[in-house]
Amino acid sequence: MRLDKVSVLCLVAALLNPAASAPAPSSGGLRGSENLLGYDSNNKVPQPPTVIPSDEFELAPGQSQDADLGVPIDLTNVKNPQPIRGGKTGPTDPGPRTYVYDRLNSDMYAPPGTDAGDFTNAKWPFALSHNRHGLAGAGWARQQNTDQLPVATAMAGVNMRLSSNAYRELHWHKAGEWSLMLNGSVRIQAVNENGETFIDDLTLGDVWFFPAGIPHSIQAFDDGCEFLLVFDQSDFSEDETFLVSELFERNPQSVVAKNFKTSVQDFKNLPDGQLWIFPGTPAPKNISAQNVTGPAGAISQAGSYSYHFSEQQPYEVDGGSIKILDPATFPIAKGFSVALITIKPGAMREMHWHTSSDEWSYFLAGSARLTVYQAPASSRTFDFSAGDVGYVPFPNAHYIENTGSNDVVLLEVLQADAFSDISVGQWLGLTSGQIVKDHLNVPEGFISKLSKVKQYIVQGSTNLTDVQ
Ligand SMILES: *[C@@H]1O[C@H](CO)[C@@H](O)[C@H](O)[C@H]1NC(C)=O
Ligand SMILES: *[C@@H]1O[C@H](CO)[C@@H](O)[C@H](O)[C@H]1NC(C)=O
Ligand SMILES: *[C@@H]1O[C@H](CO)[C@@H](O)[C@H](O)[C@H]1NC(C)=O
Ligand SMILES: *[C@@H]1O[C@H](CO)[C@@H](O)[C@H](O)[C@H]1NC(C)=O
Repeated sequence: MRLDKVSVLCLVAALLNPAASAPAPSSGGLRGSENLLGYDSNNKVPQPPTVIPSDEFELAPGQSQDADLGVPIDLTNVKNPQPIRGGKTGPTDPGPRTYVYDRLNSDMYAPPGTDAGDFTNAKWPFALSHNRHGLAGAGWARQQNTDQLPVATAMAGVNMRLSSNAYRELHWHKAGEWSLMLNGSVRIQAVNENGETFIDDLTLGDVWFFPAGIPHSIQAFDDGCEFLLVFDQSDFSEDETFLVSELFERNPQSVVAKNFKTSVQDFKNLPDGQLWIFPGTPAPKNISAQNVTGPAGAISQAGSYSYHFSEQQPYEVDGGSIKILDPATFPIAKGFSVALITIKPGAMREMHWHTSSDEWSYFLAGSARLTVYQAPASSRTFDFSAGDVGYVPFPNAHYIENTGSNDVVLLEVLQADAFSDISVGQWLGLTSGQIVKDHLNVPEGFISKLSKVKQYIVQGSTNLTDVQ
């Protein structure tokens, strides 16, 4: 950071001390003279140097390699990072900049030579979302919808924290809500339109789904919790849900009393304003103590609002593992088809696309990148780290490559009846070798290595700049 500060100071000094040959600013007015209008044949401007001496910056491994190889470059620890790809001399970046963003987005700052054309932004870090705090330190939530990421037209996301014993208040909304527990444990409960009830306890790695309009609440246990919510409406706003506190506050008190066949006196101590996220009394450990059922009984297991996904064994492949959850085993979550994927260092989620849905993704761990290819001739590469949302519109092709030295864990969410993709490898493996050769002019050796089965994840060298 020392160098960063020096550059900023130089810039400020240059702006405040124009070269001696420049006309002295007239003092006293907010505006300059009309004489400053361009252009004048006697115009002489200062020509300050912009060259960054080569000993004032470092290149990361891979930065001098051919730009079309497009290897991942790690700028996190190099001195005074520069947007260089292929070649040792340039271009450099003397100008105003935010080093932290440049370091985090090396493929944006120094794109692979294969990136082309225009493509809208496909990344949103929750760290850039406003974090709304609940009452009395009870938690917080931040969201990503089309206000933050306009390309995300089919889904929106929320990242929520509940402190020890805190509630997300009894509420309902227009969108279906799919959730992955990121940490801690919770009790969830809901009542459906038939008067059937649901209650369950979930821990890190488990999933719930509440259909649109179904009222529910969420309460953390003693150790608090954090979870991810995915909604099937792109303009969903966590600030616009229907709340039990507002429902009572926004109706005439006489009507509320009549509705419950009671006295208005019962409602003298209603909360003032909405609760949203607020401190609660600890839930009894024994779930039976809060399991209320009426004549209609409990929601059947087939219609369960939760899935103990943490207990599902992952499908192991070379380079990582994958767990799929879609309506085949979690029928209530209609339209939500997800994969929880672990990608080992050096490995990559294979090149693929989805046939019917956009993909909303969330990075739980590690660092990765993906390139979106969009017809006819555009592509752009985006870098991700834990806490980021990614979005790939249907049916754009993409891969997800682990660019770090730890496992990448990511959630892919589709709006589809089943989780599915077209694997580029399998597609070509199941196409006549002659046809593939005629198109791509590849050698026989390539054809014979093609796989007829989906790889999901492919392992490569952990030395990302070691390209054969
Ligand atoms: C859960 O939170 C604890 C406390 O911050 C942390 O140590 C742990 O790593 C978290 N677990 C996961 C899976 O992030
Ligand atoms: C939980 O409460 C129910 C109903 O009161 C009781 O039947 C059950 O034995 C309790 N379970 C435990 C583990 O204490
Ligand atoms: C709640 O009670 C109902 C009816 O007795 C029962 O079917 C259901 O399994 C109970 N749920 C839990 C989580 O104990
Ligand atoms: C990675 O591979 C490159 C190219 O083969 C090589 O120059 C470099 O030393 C390797 N790095 C490590 C850490 O092995």
